[in-house]
Amino acid sequence: MGEFYVPVAIESIEPEIFPDVALFLKSGNNYVLYKSHGRNFDREDAARLMGNSVACLYVRPADLEVLTDYMENNAERLLKSDSFDSKTKGKIIYQTSINFVGDLFQHPEKVEDFDRSRRLIENLLLYLANDKEALRSLETVMSYNYHTFVHSLQVTALSILLHSEVYLLSRDELEDVGIGTLLHDFGKIFVPQDILNKSGKLTETEIAQFKKHPEEGYRYLKEKTRLSEVSLDVVRFHHERNNGTGYPNGLKAALIPRSAQVCALCDLYCTLTIDRTGRKALPPHISINIIRQEMKDSFNSRLVDALEALVCVEEMSMPL
Ligand SMILES: [Fe+2]
Repeated sequence: MGEFYVPVAIESIEPEIFPDVALFLKSGNNYVLYKSHGRNFDREDAARLMGNSVACLYVRPADLEVLTDYMENNAERLLKSDSFDSKTKGKIIYQTSINFVGDLFQHPEKVEDFDRSRRLIENLLLYLANDKEALRSLETVMSYNYHTFVHSLQVTALSILLHSEVYLLSRDELEDVGIGTLLHDFGKIFVPQDILNKSGKLTETEIAQFKKHPEEGYRYLKEKTRLSEVSLDVVRFHHERNNGTGYPNGLKAALIPRSAQVCALCDLYCTLTIDRTGRKALPPHISINIIRQEMKDSFNSRLVDALEALVCVEEMSMPL
């Protein structure tokens, strides 16, 4: 993953309790020291930066653990507070989650800390349930950067909302779905970086290697964690397609667990709507059209209808 400085939303820095870490400003591709270790960050700093339209500061990789602890211990309280708007809460959720999921991708053994995953999904549920603007706010916030784990979080938020629209799930089931979806691409830690980052076409051997990630993620998580069958199913089957053209098992519709179907659809949708090197992000309604026309029969049409209703709200209300 390289040297990855982590953005911290300025609103989420509470001077009295924020840990004493060096904070950096981003200037082009460089990070410039704003506050060194040992110097206070006070409310005036926050006001000045926000007055200059600076939305976030950055923390260097060496301080990630301290930051993650702070965010995870305070997320619930910050999310329940009335003093933040939807966008700020989106930033807080994003912050907590990328630190955590990023951490997992770098230190896979930490996935054994099951309570941590559960706490994160609880916070995400809290945010999604109490805020109508949640999905859109998260999308805006996520445009900061894009990594496997940011993608995982985006797919998870969408998948939880889609599940709530289409199925009647208990709180526990929804948490299981959330955890499985958050970890759906966990098996990518076993795929060599040069395959994951290759910009040209993959060779057949590389494709075969890549396609092992659902099964490898499933095996690792089954052995190392207490994840439920529902969560594990999402990891194992998130590349299956309704018409049997998916992998690893080429399962057909009824045999694919429904939460894996939802994850597969949200995974593809989030891939289409994000800006990536070599391809521009597609707007929601075009992405849905592609899924309907070019990938006909790959997904359950009831799920596609519900997804469209969730993500195309603005387009539908606009005059033609
Ligand atoms: Fe995947």
